[in-house]
Amino acid sequence: MRTHIVAVAFSALFTSTVFAATPDVQSLTTPCAECHGPAGVSGAPKTPHLNGQLADYLEQEIAGLANGDRATGVANHVPKTWSAANIAAVAQFYAQSTGQRPAQAVDSQKVAQGQGIHNKRCSECHPDAGRQSDHDAPLMAGQDLDYLIEQTKAFVSGKRKFVFLMDDAFRGLTADELAAVAHFFASQDQYKK
Ligand code: HEC
Ligand code: HEC
Repeated sequence: MRTHIVAVAFSALFTSTVFAATPDVQSLTTPCAECHGPAGVSGAPKTPHLNGQLADYLEQEIAGLANGDRATGVANHVPKTWSAANIAAVAQFYAQSTGQRPAQAVDSQKVAQGQGIHNKRCSECHPDAGRQSDHDAPLMAGQDLDYLIEQTKAFVSGKRKFVFLMDDAFRGLTADELAAVAHFFASQDQYKK
């Protein structure tokens, strides 16, 4: 009898813990949708698409936005109060979200120039035209053009910290050359045909 009561108490405790810890992704991402779209395909200018991005990368960046490690122009971008479980669940949600990123107006000359630079300098970590990843780099194909250009500038100015030898890849490239690589990534379809 006694064991039975203990077991019931335990299972009640377990159920309520699990319940409290299950993140409600729908409500958590409601404010994000205003800029990143309900499924991570962004509709706002200079705003990255999050759909189909690597979960580990998203988790790292969302945590960085919450704890201030990543500089951002958006006030209260990710609430500081988000638990690690919330961050992981939201990262998974966007990573698994499929959707069509809008085609963008790109300059074909810059795309060609950017492809050449990419093949020499960037493809080691952003292979297959940015559809794949090595060394924990994010996926880039079909990403928002203006966002990509801003981020290359942020790395050069030091607003965003270079990670794992990307500074070597950037060394000696002008802002125009880096923008050309952004045109190349932006011109790519996110999914392999
Ligand atoms: C007011 C518009 C706005 C809202 C709301 C917003 N974001 Fe963002 N987000 C941006 C912009 C703009 C950037 C890029 C520049 C920056 O951070 O300032 C960005 C960048 C990001 C990035 C980095 C993506 C990458 O490729 O590195 C992540 C991850 C992200 N946001 C997640 C979220 C989450 C999660 C929420 C909701 C809690 C959210 N954002 C709410 C506008 C917004
Ligand atoms: C040695 C590996 C490596 C090389 C080479 C490399 N990158 Fe990266 N790149 C990364 C990593 C890792 C990140 C993620 C940085 C972070 O965690 O903040 C990244 C992130 C980026 C981002 C930000 C994407 C986003 O969604 O916010 C841009 C833009 C970028 N790289 C451009 C380039 C360009 C252009 C080149 C070539 C000139 C290049 N990278 C070469 C590893 C690399």
